[in-house]
Amino acid sequence: MRRLIDLLEAQHTLPDQDLLSLITMDDAEADAYLAQRAAIVRQRHYGNDVFIRGLIEISNYCKNDCHYCGIRRGNRCCQRYRLTEEQILACCHQGYEAGFRTFVMQGGEDPYFSRERMAALIRSIKQSYPDCAVTLSLGELDRETYQEWFDAGADRYLLRHETANARLYRALHPEPLTLENRMRCLYDLKEIGYQTGCGFMVGSPGQTPEMILEDLRFIQEFRPHMVGIGPFIPHQETIFRDQPAGSAELTLRLLSIVRLMLPDVLLPATTALGTVLGDGRQQGMLHGCNVVMPNLSPPNVRGKYTLYDNKLITGAEAAESLRLLAESMAEIGYRVVTARGDWKGGST
Ligand code: 5AD
Repeated sequence: MRRLIDLLEAQHTLPDQDLLSLITMDDAEADAYLAQRAAIVRQRHYGNDVFIRGLIEISNYCKNDCHYCGIRRGNRCCQRYRLTEEQILACCHQGYEAGFRTFVMQGGEDPYFSRERMAALIRSIKQSYPDCAVTLSLGELDRETYQEWFDAGADRYLLRHETANARLYRALHPEPLTLENRMRCLYDLKEIGYQTGCGFMVGSPGQTPEMILEDLRFIQEFRPHMVGIGPFIPHQETIFRDQPAGSAELTLRLLSIVRLMLPDVLLPATTALGTVLGDGRQQGMLHGCNVVMPNLSPPNVRGKYTLYDNKLITGAEAAESLRLLAESMAEIGYRVVTARGDWKGGST
């Protein structure tokens, strides 16, 4: 296994069979070695810095009905909310004071946040905080909308592909969603000039190691600036309520593999990882991650944005939770920085 890991680090790729062996290995020593190499590669590109992104969950209304997701349209038990522009700007203000220089606007696919309304919101955030990056995570839209938001000042866009396998994609997402349109969106976003993030869930119902290989191949071909990988976690109000959660160990292994494939990628230790593993954020860093995305949403809505059960929620204010995060990162030798934290790579 060590030989394969060294090869992956040197060549950023491996033949299918070898990658599959890494994905499915049952070898604690090899896992430790993989993590160590991933952390070293991360260190070379980003040092000990941990980039933070302030996550603002602007709406849990969604027109889609993804089978795994707690805020899917069909979930009658979900208490819906939308933040006002004023509330969103207040989150940014708090976040800025605490040291955040990236704001991530995430939400369900909510037509209320129309092209015009979002463009105006992006402009007003960029006007108030010209030294900050704005990231959007608002799902699938047409190219013109993505272009207008980019022109309004948005810098980055997160849109997980969820799975690169068309059959699994179909099993997880009812119509009208298609893998084809998801890919169209991702290529549009990258062409427009966004720093673009894709990603997938680990252990979603029906996922096989071969399908994970397809995800890695897609990531290699697409060359995203960011990759979001987290374990699937069941939600009570979905058809997957009785399915097991994805493995934290496999998630960590895949994070390390992605670090070796794309050495300069921005790689968050996700909230879902922090939910299945008490020290998930620390473990993420030790496996090659360099980004954390703490919640900046108003404390009274945090419990309503539940994509999965037992989501890691703290009622803490931005400054307080950031202090705790900084402490936990310092414990393992990493340093939370006040910076936009842009992608530091060559051209993709
Ligand atoms: N478990 C884990 N992750 C989930 N997401 C949505 N539902 C779940 C779930 N049940 C992830 C999806 C989405 C991101 C915002 O959250 O990958 O892209």
